[in-house]
Amino acid sequence: MRLLIAGWQGQVARALVEAAPGCPDVTACAVGRAALDICEARSIDRALSRIEPSIVINSAAYTAVDKAETDSKRAFALNHDGARLLAEAAARRGIPIIHLSSDYVYDGRKASPYVETDPARPATVFGRSKLEGEQAVQQANPKHVVLRTAWVFSPSGRNFVKTMLGQAAEQERVRVVDDQHGSPTYAPHLVTAILELARRLSAGTGEQGAWGIYHAAGTGTTTWRDTHLRIEGPVVGELQKLFMGTWEKQRANPLALKDYFPELSPHGNDMVRAIGSTPDDAYSLMYLTLISAIGNAVREVYLTNAYFVPDPQLLKALVVAAGRGVDVRLILPGHTDSEIVFHAGRSHYSGLLEGGVKLYERGGALLHSKTAVIDGVWSTVGSTNLDWRSFLDNDEINAVVIGREFGDRMRAAFAADMAASEAIDLARWEQRSLLLRIKEWTARLWGRLL
Ligand SMILES: NC(=O)c1ccc[n+]([C@@H]2O[C@H](COP(=O)([O-])OP(=O)(O)OC[C@H]3O[C@@H](n4cnc5c(N)ncnc54)[C@H](OP(=O)(O)O)[C@@H]3O)[C@@H](O)[C@H]2O)c1
Repeated sequence: MRLLIAGWQGQVARALVEAAPGCPDVTACAVGRAALDICEARSIDRALSRIEPSIVINSAAYTAVDKAETDSKRAFALNHDGARLLAEAAARRGIPIIHLSSDYVYDGRKASPYVETDPARPATVFGRSKLEGEQAVQQANPKHVVLRTAWVFSPSGRNFVKTMLGQAAEQERVRVVDDQHGSPTYAPHLVTAILELARRLSAGTGEQGAWGIYHAAGTGTTTWRDTHLRIEGPVVGELQKLFMGTWEKQRANPLALKDYFPELSPHGNDMVRAIGSTPDDAYSLMYLTLISAIGNAVREVYLTNAYFVPDPQLLKALVVAAGRGVDVRLILPGHTDSEIVFHAGRSHYSGLLEGGVKLYERGGALLHSKTAVIDGVWSTVGSTNLDWRSFLDNDEINAVVIGREFGDRMRAAFAADMAASEAIDLARWEQRSLLLRIKEWTARLWGRLL
């Protein structure tokens, strides 16, 4: 299979060229703008005649996402007009085209990963130029694959990973947007997908309806969903005391002599208590406080927790609360950075659902919050996970806030998380695969060690 790759020098094109020697069935001819300018019909024809490819791969593009807002003419000239010219020229010779496109064809409002059938609604000039380019390619060449990808990174070219590493090396503080979600895609991984598609197209599988739009990106997302508090008032002194105690216990360098405990005047109407727990304590104060709050709940228990491996007492408290008519809801992660904890937690789903507890798994971000709001007035935010290790073996700190105003904000945050979560249905849950059950069973055996 002979590939003509437009856009040599680009990250994807380079990764394709680097992968080709390892694939005996692939001859990769990557051409830069000087030999193949996708905005020039004659240049395209010359390159096609010279190389006689079996497949054209278009990785040439205008990729300056932000600049496109003020440079739309150039963005459209490349991403729409150039893409169309290349697809037309390939079509005239009966050659299929794999055209690279972008996640920017979506507006990013969906909380879970986009699939090919989701309607594309770009929110930016760049996104519009890519979407219109896709449509032009589809119209120009019936033998097309539009391959949408996202957040490509590799050792070459400009990309987010390199920019961050560079900034971290040069600056003490790095400022980054934190409201954007994405699936980073390692260029060599993307290339594996491109080459597999090219093979199938070459083998004629495409003739049986494989043409069309595909998504190919790394799995998982980078954005974490966490909850932070800014606390003012006398309780800050308590937090300071806990911090200094832990600092000393860790035998860190002595702190500089300063006034660490200035007089703090009251702020706001909420009552706040700082609760710390350490492995030296006979029991976890935070655990007892939470169990007692659940035990006293009359209306609702809304828990959000990233690491959920409950002990029998917590399980009982939740089920008993649900049994006496309290609306008990848990938002847990839909995916995780700790597989064992994730599956060990899931092994308790059936019992909880049967006991009337409502379960939700958060999508769209890696859930890292550890919060609770009970009856709209008792709330906690902190580092304590709902797992054994957190209760017994970790140094943790939580703020417990009593107040309706704060409770309302916590309930609103809970509702927003629920909207981005999938409700777990008992009947469907019971139909999960044997593989998942084995993972849960194995993880649960390890549960006490977590
Ligand atoms: N990078 C990402 O994060 C990402 C994410 C989603 C989708 N994609 C898509 O994946 C594709 C490849 O991305 P990439 O990261 O490899 O892009 P890139 O590194 O910016 O490379 C784009 C290449 O296009 C070339 N080019 C510009 N104008 C041209 C023209 N008129 N004729 C021929 N070549 C021209 C550029 O050459 P010069 O160097 O000479 O300008 C450059 O080598 C693009 O369609 C992009 O939209 C990328």
